[in-house]
Amino acid sequence: MMHSILRSVIFLGALMAVPLAASAVDLTISCGAVGQERELCEQATSAWAKQTGHRVTITTPSNRTNERYFQYLVDLGAGDSRIDVYQIDIIWPGLLAKHLVDLKEYIPPEEIQRHFPAIVTNNMVDGRLVGMPWFTDAGVLYYRKDLLEKYGLPVPQDWSELADTALYIQLQERQTGGQPELWGYVFQGAAYEGLSCNALEWIASYGGGSLVGTDGTIKADNPQAIMAVARAASWIGTVAPPRVLSFNEEDARQSFQLGNAVFMRNWPYAWALLNGKDSPVAGKVGVGPLPKGGLKGSPASVLGGWQLAVSKYSKNPAIAAELVRYLTGEAVQKQRAITGSYAPTIVRLYDDPELAAAQPFLAVLRPILENAVARPSARVGDSYMAMTTYFWETVHAVLQGRGAAATSLSGLQDQLRLLKTRGGW
Ligand code: GLC
Repeated sequence: MMHSILRSVIFLGALMAVPLAASAVDLTISCGAVGQERELCEQATSAWAKQTGHRVTITTPSNRTNERYFQYLVDLGAGDSRIDVYQIDIIWPGLLAKHLVDLKEYIPPEEIQRHFPAIVTNNMVDGRLVGMPWFTDAGVLYYRKDLLEKYGLPVPQDWSELADTALYIQLQERQTGGQPELWGYVFQGAAYEGLSCNALEWIASYGGGSLVGTDGTIKADNPQAIMAVARAASWIGTVAPPRVLSFNEEDARQSFQLGNAVFMRNWPYAWALLNGKDSPVAGKVGVGPLPKGGLKGSPASVLGGWQLAVSKYSKNPAIAAELVRYLTGEAVQKQRAITGSYAPTIVRLYDDPELAAAQPFLAVLRPILENAVARPSARVGDSYMAMTTYFWETVHAVLQGRGAAATSLSGLQDQLRLLKTRGGW
């Protein structure tokens, strides 16, 4: 008697631990590796694997989003079934839609409705939900509170104040503060999508628009845009290290985290790392909106963020969608916000008292996210990758001193005009 009870208990226990073991499948997810992305993806996917009995392998694409896009495009274009779940950028739903399943078929509407409506709308292509929002992003300004306090200077409100403050502290610290390596400002200056985001922020903050108007008109060449880009070019080698022209997010973060910069533009993920246990600048950093473009301008942050999508070529789309549902759900988003300062896409998490207490940074972030400026990806459809490449190449050349802002932006205007004629939008 005792034996048979024991046997059924053991049997039941085994069943509960691995309920789907009989039909367990192998899934592969492509997760980014910027900051803590890979680590957090590993933790959450292995928790899900443990719960369900399925197995999940992680692949890591390039850290540069545009390179990642072309890697994905090659795989998806060939109908490759090796990757089931893709982490996709907020600018890609339209570009990749035809390769992705409609998640509405797998995820209940009440769960979808918990996310920011604007992001859900962004992820809908021809009535199909091609990505579930995972985290949202906006550009923010990080600054060294301790250095501003030391010199009795306020947090700069506009770009020229930022450059003046940066230069002053940089000179003082190099001469007398024992910091010969210190620079004033670091950002994402390499020729890639990150520079398009930074440059759009400079331009939009001066009222120079975001390349294309709401009616589709090209607005790359205007006095505010010229002024903004010319001003940024004047930072190189004065307050920004010349090597900023090869910096991506992680290069900027590492430099700032080592204590080598007074100000940094980056995304929210940097906050958790800057304040991590081993960070030399932990507790010394402040964060807020980016500077305004002059006294009449307003701060502008580009909207970023990532979604999880299921490939049409997956052999197990329903189970892959279950994984997406779990990863984009409340518990995982909350954990990622606490550990990695990734901004949730589930609206009510912003009112979660436990989360607010654990991650007060979210309160600073919320208004910045709400006012963030979208890149023109939805407006120009398939032409976006060409448009952004022309844009970052143009800005990069100006920052390198290879062309004046005015002639370069007028050249960009012509390139975009041609693009519009050829591709149309
Ligand atoms: C961040 C943003 C993404 C953007 C990228 C640019 O990952 O979330 O939207 O395209 O940075 O580098």
